[in-house]
Amino acid sequence: MSASKDSAVSKEKVLGVTRPGIKNDEVLDFYKKWSKEYDKDLDEEEYGGPRKVAQTLAASLGDRRDVRVLDVAAGTGLCGLELSKLGFTNVDALDASQEMLDVAKTKNVYKNFIKEFLGPNRLNIDDDTYDGMTACGLFCDGHVGPDCLEQLIRIVKPGGFICIGLREVLLHTSDACKDLEPRMAALQSEGQWQQVHREVFPGYCVGFDGVVYVYKVL
Ligand SMILES: C[S@@+](CC[C@H](N)C(=O)[O-])C[C@H]1O[C@@H](n2cnc3c(N)ncnc32)[C@H](O)[C@@H]1O
Repeated sequence: MSASKDSAVSKEKVLGVTRPGIKNDEVLDFYKKWSKEYDKDLDEEEYGGPRKVAQTLAASLGDRRDVRVLDVAAGTGLCGLELSKLGFTNVDALDASQEMLDVAKTKNVYKNFIKEFLGPNRLNIDDDTYDGMTACGLFCDGHVGPDCLEQLIRIVKPGGFICIGLREVLLHTSDACKDLEPRMAALQSEGQWQQVHREVFPGYCVGFDGVVYVYKVL
């Protein structure tokens, strides 16, 4: 298959699994079948989101590299791989898809693997467990919405950082994302966290800018 055909196929998968109206059970079924091809397809898409999210979290943490980090919606471990390249050695992975976590395991960059669903439900993780968190590519239709943010904040220590990245256009086009920034701002007004960084950047993947946020948990 030619490079352009490969690229069309990978783009179709990326847009297909995030299409408006898709339901979470369809999404998880999609990842179950896609897990082994995901890295190859996202490479075709020149997927730069995980690197940007890992680097942005690292910049917030200064030179601390042995701190506990949780990569949520870790998928096949692309953020974990980038964190590992930056010297992080104490990183856990959380995802709702066992098949994606199974691929993540093969990268040998995570300590613990947590199969959990991100939503309004309470995660089976103690309060104030982590110093840092990466969250890339999870806020979109059929995946994760802003109703999980309070749980993410709960499990990060006061003074810890949460770094979130997504395709910027989804803030305007996705039902799951249109309330994301209002909810982030409301949680700041409630004194739960404080935005320390927001940046729109090119090269989230082919044809799309990304937006990356860092929040400090209070
Ligand atoms: C686009 S992938 C992103 C994976 C990885 N962070 C990356 O950037 O390559 C989205 C991931 O979110 C997971 N996911 C979707 N909905 C979820 C939910 N409600 N709770 C936990 N994980 C979910 C999927 O299984 C998939 O691994």
